Amino acid sequence: MSFVLIAAIFIIVFLISIYKTVEVDITLKYYELFGKKVDELRDKVVWITGASSGIGENLAYELASVGCKLILSARRKQELERVKTKCSEIAGKKLNDEDKDFLVLPLDVTKFDTHDQAVQTVLEHFGQIDILVNNSGRSQRGIIINTEFKVDQELFELNVLGTISLTKVVLPHMIERNAGHIVVVSSLTGKLGVPTSGTYSATKHALQGYFYSLRTEVYDNGIDVSIVCPGPVKSAIVENSVSEKFGKACRTI
Ligand SMILES: NC(=O)c1ccc[n+]([C@@H]2O[C@H](COP(=O)([O-])OP(=O)(O)OC[C@H]3O[C@@H](n4cnc5c(N)ncnc54)[C@H](OP(=O)(O)O)[C@@H]3O)[C@@H](O)[C@H]2O)c1
Repeated sequence: MSFVLIAAIFIIVFLISIYKTVEVDITLKYYELFGKKVDELRDKVVWITGASSGIGENLAYELASVGCKLILSARRKQELERVKTKCSEIAGKKLNDEDKDFLVLPLDVTKFDTHDQAVQTVLEHFGQIDILVNNSGRSQRGIIINTEFKVDQELFELNVLGTISLTKVVLPHMIERNAGHIVVVSSLTGKLGVPTSGTYSATKHALQGYFYSLRTEVYDNGIDVSIVCPGPVKSAIVENSVSEKFGKACRTI
């Protein structure tokens, strides 16, 4: 009995010591320690939306460092060129040719009728898309009662419909190859409702429902679907947030 007690205390102390080093949750820590390593992605063709700043930009650097080929999309071409230059520096010897390995493809995800052409451009350049990271998005600061309906519409068009539209034009290509990975950057607010971000939270909940369903539908096509739910990350997200008034970002108020 005393042996069991000592073993139990040992296990509890061990778990607490691990827990102290965990930043978000224990599952993430487990995969960090024992999951696939990021360098297994070498030579994969990864399309990142929202690559001009924040999470998308830093993901681009991480993937460039292991030799991925990247399509960098967002609206601001100049910022994408800056990210591309840094990707080339980071990739160093793993780089074959800057202009072949990193494609800057300006894209507004709310301009749905441009998505087909964007996919064609990517396929002409790389011949395939291994991973699509739907990362572009905006957050919100404003209480529901004061928020104009046009703001709700705007957020759904960007965070939900833009993501759905781009995914839909990439999917046939992945199904044809029987391979691919769709990643969606949701949020903790995709799991919980939070004050002053009601619509944002709703858009992320919508992504959860849609992409969980897609995951079951394309499982037999060899396509993975991952939904990432970050907690707070320091980026330009707050200043770029929509406000209660249509057309006014938080930074302009
Ligand atoms: N930061 C956090 O705390 C946090 C937490 C959970 C989830 N997230 C999610 O993470 C993702 C990235 O956010 P972030 O923190 O990196 O914020 P960010 O720095 O503001 O980046 C947002 C990105 O989305 C792009 N974007 C905005 N509107 C677009 C449009 N119409 N078409 C194409 N791209 C557009 C922006 O580029 P352009 O302006 O050049 O178009 C930018 O590259 C978002 O989906 C966000 O909801 C963030």
